Amino acid sequence: MDNGIRVTIRSDMDIVTAREQGRALAEKIGFSQVERTVIATAISEIARNIVEHAQEGEVLLDHCQHGAKRGIQITARDKGPGIPDVARAMQDEYSTGKGLGLGLPGSKRLMDEFEIQSEKGQGTTVTMRKWMPL
Ligand SMILES: Nc1ncnc2c1ncn2[C@@H]1O[C@H](COP(=O)(O)OP(=O)(O)O)[C@@H](O)[C@H]1O
Ligand SMILES: [Mg+2]
Repeated sequence: MDNGIRVTIRSDMDIVTAREQGRALAEKIGFSQVERTVIATAISEIARNIVEHAQEGEVLLDHCQHGAKRGIQITARDKGPGIPDVARAMQDEYSTGKGLGLGLPGSKRLMDEFEIQSEKGQGTTVTMRKWMPL
């Protein structure tokens, strides 16, 4: 990441910071008000998962480009307990905590691209992208 923003995530305040930094970057890239809110919502959910399920980690925000397409890329990573069954965690309403279990599947629906890499005991990395309409 050359020009990106890094937000350390440990508390609810950090979640707000990541969300607002993401919103500001999305505006700079040119996303509409509605799209900015969608992106901010996905960032909140993924950052919240770090606080709730891994205690600490970080969110990286950056531009991305693919041919003529421009967009925003969000990476959330932690060295927490990891997710033993990612397919299951991606199902609606599956939660090992007190959550609604909609954070991961909901964020996937809000973004254009969504990948999770996670291994039990190793931590979790979520990468999401949203592209500007051409
Ligand atoms: N960063 C993470 N580290 C470890 N486990 C996670 C992480 N993010 C999500 N999970 C697991 O995936 C499940 C589903 O996540 P999510 O859809 O956000 O639901 P919720 O957070 O409401 O439980 C969580 O209950 C948890 O078991
Ligand atoms: Mg969640």
